[in-house]
Amino acid sequence: MDLRWTSKSVVLIALISLVGAHCATAPLALSIENVTLSDGVAKNRGIHVDLGGQPEGFRISFAINNTRVRNAQDCQVLGNATLRSKCLGSSGGVYDVQLHTFNTSGSFNVSHIDTPPKNAVILQGADEAVMGNITIPRFPFEVWHDPDSLNKSGIAFGPDSSVLAKLVDYGFAPSKFFGLFFGSRSQNQPQDGQVIVGGYNVARIRGPFTNFSMTPLGLDTPCPLQVQIKDVVLNNSQGSYSLMPDIRSTVAACIDPLQNQFTFTQAMYALWKNYTRHNDSADYTDQTYPPESEAPVLIDNLTVTLSNGYTVVVPKYELLSLERGANDVGEYAIVSQKVMAAVGKGPTDFGRDIPILGGTFLSQNYLFVDYESRTFGLAPANVDRVNIMKGDIRTVCKELLVEAPQSHRNVGVIVGPAIGGVAATLLILTGIWCWRRRRPAREGTESGAAEDDDPWKLKSLYY
Ligand SMILES: *[C@@H]1O[C@H](CO)[C@@H](O)[C@H](O)[C@H]1NC(C)=O
Ligand SMILES: *[C@@H]1O[C@H](CO)[C@@H](O)[C@H](O)[C@H]1NC(C)=O
Ligand SMILES: *[C@@H]1O[C@H](CO)[C@@H](O)[C@H](O)[C@H]1NC(C)=O
Ligand SMILES: *[C@@H]1O[C@H](CO)[C@@H](O)[C@H](O)[C@H]1NC(C)=O
Ligand SMILES: *[C@@H]1O[C@H](CO)[C@@H](O)[C@H](O)[C@H]1NC(C)=O
Ligand SMILES: *[C@@H]1O[C@H](CO)[C@@H](O)[C@H](O)[C@H]1NC(C)=O
Ligand SMILES: *[C@@H]1O[C@H](CO)[C@@H](O)[C@H](O)[C@H]1NC(C)=O
Ligand SMILES: *[C@@H]1O[C@H](CO)[C@@H](O)[C@H](O)[C@H]1NC(C)=O
Ligand SMILES: *[C@@H]1O[C@H](CO)[C@@H](O)[C@H](O)[C@H]1NC(C)=O
Ligand SMILES: *[C@@H]1O[C@H](CO)[C@@H](O)[C@H](O)[C@H]1NC(C)=O
Ligand SMILES: *[C@@H]1O[C@H](CO)[C@@H](O)[C@H](O)[C@H]1NC(C)=O
Ligand SMILES: *[C@@H]1O[C@H](CO)[C@@H](O)[C@H](O)[C@H]1NC(C)=O
Repeated sequence: MDLRWTSKSVVLIALISLVGAHCATAPLALSIENVTLSDGVAKNRGIHVDLGGQPEGFRISFAINNTRVRNAQDCQVLGNATLRSKCLGSSGGVYDVQLHTFNTSGSFNVSHIDTPPKNAVILQGADEAVMGNITIPRFPFEVWHDPDSLNKSGIAFGPDSSVLAKLVDYGFAPSKFFGLFFGSRSQNQPQDGQVIVGGYNVARIRGPFTNFSMTPLGLDTPCPLQVQIKDVVLNNSQGSYSLMPDIRSTVAACIDPLQNQFTFTQAMYALWKNYTRHNDSADYTDQTYPPESEAPVLIDNLTVTLSNGYTVVVPKYELLSLERGANDVGEYAIVSQKVMAAVGKGPTDFGRDIPILGGTFLSQNYLFVDYESRTFGLAPANVDRVNIMKGDIRTVCKELLVEAPQSHRNVGVIVGPAIGGVAATLLILTGIWCWRRRRPAREGTESGAAEDDDPWKLKSLYY
């Protein structure tokens, strides 16, 4: 573990006082792992949640505020077991409402109802959710029956996430801040990932954070983590090739782990296709190449540079594999000797044609997300195969004691145990707080009620 970089930082914030019950709670570590789904065959890589006993392998998305699960009916109507397993696996789990554990009567208690696409049939309710050793008695989620769009299941880590809210409300996490190491879905160096709710794992961080503010950049999706891509360069033994159609302009993209592959604009993909000599025959998808093709030579690594200078090199092993998909029994596996690249174009799993920096991009980064200060940060990840469940997990939590006028608020800052002197740095303090204040009761309605105080206003207290 390389902590040298932290020693250059200076702790600017004194610990003022320790307050509140939330901050005494340890951060919650959730593994991103292969989960075997209800048929015992299909698997999906995600967060393992048992909803009323039904296993889900939820992919994470920052673009949704409420967890959504595909209705089991969508898969059950398919002709044979293989097709059903394939449907189950690619959906990341389904939920069977006919098992009668779904409580739809007044139990969908969330602060924001996500905008559904047209024609979706959505049931809202709650069931018991078990994640590792914690049990959330009334976990709110939506059950989607929608053959046309957004049909995959996902666990909601969006700005108004009911998942983060329940974890804090039930006392399973100290704050809604989270740190994410995505791990790797690569064929040759796969490894589990990890989300820390209410903290971060220092063992996974290999350099300083670069901060971003949550600013909409015009993408046609409620993506909270939008960035401008300045350049994407493909390097191979023959040279170095920019995939930007116009190097003078930037391209807005969404950071979201729902989808693994890079999703480029049509123009960027056209350049990629040319430089990697993609064969346009109907035998190949946007992502696949003939077994005997030069793809393994022409695809080496991608350097992604964002507009603020943050740069990531995505190595070859993340980009190339043999063709993978659902095999004869519907299990995710290598299905041919074709070469497959983790690069494609829209439309995405969000049903939109927007550039996405997905799991392949995140595999090389440690990400923190702090919705309350509208900040997120990226740092180079330590991708070594360390035992991440042990790791070096730090609590991130601030509590505010709200006492009358804003200017007189007492501010308490807690940075968890074992923070190790200087290493405590502001890096993560930058905006990490758990926030205590009077909350209006939220009874499963739109987030219409204006907050009586605006969290962002307090930012200046910390920076
Ligand atoms: C399942 O159905 C699909 C489509 O009809 C067919 O291609 C496949 O061979 C079937 N699989 C089995 C195991 O019957
Ligand atoms: C369903 O949820 C509501 C609201 O939380 C609760 O009052 C009711 O008892 C629940 N019903 C069942 C059958 O658990
Ligand atoms: C809804 O959630 C809020 C905040 O989590 C909680 O205070 C309230 O009791 C919940 N209401 C019901 C009916 O569960
Ligand atoms: C999630 O909540 C945020 C903040 O309230 C909102 O901007 C966004 O549109 C919501 N996402 C969806 C899918 O409704
Ligand atoms: C779950 O397990 C972790 C690690 O063993 C432990 O720190 C934590 O307290 C446990 N949580 C509960 C709710 O039992
Ligand atoms: C979602 O729906 C689209 C369009 O019907 C379909 O092509 C895609 O395979 C579906 N995805 C899953 C995971 O079933
Ligand atoms: C997850 O499953 C895939 C497909 O079966 C496999 O290739 C990969 O090695 C597994 N990942 C880990 C970390 O074991
Ligand atoms: C990237 O690819 C180039 C060309 O194949 C290679 O020379 C270089 O070592 C690679 N860099 C990394 C960091 O993988
Ligand atoms: C890609 O090639 C350029 C030009 O040769 C070089 O400056 C850069 O360091 C290379 N990037 C990687 C990751 O190897
Ligand atoms: C396509 O790629 C080749 C190198 O493989 C390059 O010489 C040519 O300029 C590229 N064409 C376009 C339109 O980018
Ligand atoms: C593209 O693939 C098809 C089918 O595999 C093959 O017949 C054709 O020769 C390939 N084209 C090129 C330019 O390699
Ligand atoms: C992170 O953001 C905060 C608030 O904008 C700023 O004070 C801090 O210097 C930033 N850290 C880095 C490493 O840029």
